[in-house]
Amino acid sequence: MSESSQEILVHTEAGVRTVTINRVEKKNSLTEAMYASMADALTSAVDDAEVRCVVFQGDISIFSAGNDIADFLKQSQGSSASRQDPEQRPVWRFLHQISTFPKPVIAAVCGPAVGIGTTMLLHCDLIYAGDNAAFSLPFVNLGLCPEAASSLLLPQMMGYHRAAEALLLGEPFMAEAALEVGLVNRVVPPSECNALAQAVAKKLAAKPLSSLIESKRLMKGGQAAKVRERMDVEGQSFTRMMAEPAAKEAFTAFLEKRRPDFSGC
Ligand code: COA
Repeated sequence: MSESSQEILVHTEAGVRTVTINRVEKKNSLTEAMYASMADALTSAVDDAEVRCVVFQGDISIFSAGNDIADFLKQSQGSSASRQDPEQRPVWRFLHQISTFPKPVIAAVCGPAVGIGTTMLLHCDLIYAGDNAAFSLPFVNLGLCPEAASSLLLPQMMGYHRAAEALLLGEPFMAEAALEVGLVNRVVPPSECNALAQAVAKKLAAKPLSSLIESKRLMKGGQAAKVRERMDVEGQSFTRMMAEPAAKEAFTAFLEKRRPDFSGC
């Protein structure tokens, strides 16, 4: 597959396309190139009759530490990526693709799922978690705001107050708590998580694709426009906040392995 790279592995077999995030030494944090590969893996699957279902997975120890913070820092300092039309940016292409993808998407999540590592799950259909999964949305702690329509979808899913706790405090919550609020379908030992996702994907791949697509469209269609609109509004705020002092301090502090000092922000 052309969209496969060392850091994003794409493999299609028996109707199931598996996308593996594979940058473990940097905790599967996502660079622009990795978003581009993930977006391409979805785009090419839309009309590919060989693909009936997509599975996202990471490593047994880490799903994803979210956006690469060194990339964030470059963008906050006005790199060429930050001057690109937002809709052309790989991260936006990926979020647009996953939020509108017509066929079933499954995620197998073990270890930390940070930032977009959690928000991308809001657009998946079935989520299996290892009991070591830890979900977190530390946007405020990074001087940023929610993305991927999480400010709309999380309050709908878990109620306003639990969403406020997740989004304003940004502290991790574990797999069992995610199960309780309906973010994940099942919690299993980490060593069984990918196999479970594959087994369910195979089951889905054996069903009539047109029925799967129509059922997903009916479940998601009602608020597709709202999701898109919220992603756009969040994206504008997120881009503006990236260039502000709080975000620059948070990114620099992370890379310098120290606590951020927001006293001037
Ligand atoms: N961007 C860039 N590099 C990252 C990263 C990220 N989001 N997350 C981790 N890394 C790098 C670390 O800088 C470190 O690199 P080094 O070995 O060259 O020093 C390496 O990955 C290991 O990370 P470390 O923090 O030591 O691992 P840990 O097991 O103690 O903690 C996490 C794992 C995921 C909890 C922690 O790395 C983390 O909180 N990461 C940042 C998450 C974040 O804020 N993401 C942005 C969301 S919008």
